[in-house]
Amino acid sequence: MKLVHISDLHFPVPLPFSSLKGKMIPGYLNYTFRRRKKYPISLWHAIVRKIEEVHPDAVVISGDITNVSHIREYNRSLEILKPVLNEKTFMIPGNHDRYTKQATYGKELPYYEKFFSTWMGEEVTEPRGYLRAKKIGNLALVGWDSNMPLSVLNAYGYVSEEVVHSTLEYLEREKIDHYFLICHHPIWNPPERQESPGHRMRNREKIATLLKKRPPIAYLHGHVHTNWVKAPGPDKPFYVVNSASSTRIADPKHESGFHILDWNGKELDIQRFTFSLEKGEFILANTILYEEEKETDGR
Ligand SMILES: [Fe+2]
Ligand SMILES: [Fe+2]
Repeated sequence: MKLVHISDLHFPVPLPFSSLKGKMIPGYLNYTFRRRKKYPISLWHAIVRKIEEVHPDAVVISGDITNVSHIREYNRSLEILKPVLNEKTFMIPGNHDRYTKQATYGKELPYYEKFFSTWMGEEVTEPRGYLRAKKIGNLALVGWDSNMPLSVLNAYGYVSEEVVHSTLEYLEREKIDHYFLICHHPIWNPPERQESPGHRMRNREKIATLLKKRPPIAYLHGHVHTNWVKAPGPDKPFYVVNSASSTRIADPKHESGFHILDWNGKELDIQRFTFSLEKGEFILANTILYEEEKETDGR
């Protein structure tokens, strides 16, 4: 089974300043000055072309489609992503898609659900929190939502233990042996890419301990804008794959790109692709692999 994993697309659409409220103002200014030039729309078109070309069995998008959860960002990103949104697609939100209370706790559906619920999988029965899944043959894609609207200075994540327990019960009930777990926040970071408490998933060690009962093939995430892959180890006996930020131009601090994961029922093969400015296309690149699970470099 061939799975394309993309993340943190951060759709680059200019927004009228008068339409911004509260936290969206500093958020949009931050995006305009720090990120906008790094996210040309041509990369969105190139990634859509690449996905169509590889004919995957599944496409996973692990959050941060938008920058400030503006309705216009949702409208335009839906339009551009349309060619790759189909029965094979599975997507979850990121913290930028739950940026404001208005976008998250609206009178009707949250904005993310309003635009993308068709591709967010099935709600697992009796969920104690956000838990969605999509079955592909005898394999499952399981999605969590680690996000909530926070102050502009914070971007941390949290997934309740109840959601982890519900996930394990669901896998047991449905007799699913193999699954991919998708969540926006990392459950592991390389030593040189550690996150501050205001940015990381707060209870991730507890979650990892619970997952040991029934580990996924791989934990797919984004949030930190540089790619990596961690091999299975004693504490986290599964791959950890970061495909953020797929639509960003790479620089020495940001190894941008995405991954294609090939599962043959026993082993996982992972390939990384990055955008080539010369060719104007995504090309095969070195996988940034960590064999060691330790998060400190021993100093
Ligand atoms: Fe992001
Ligand atoms: Fe994020």
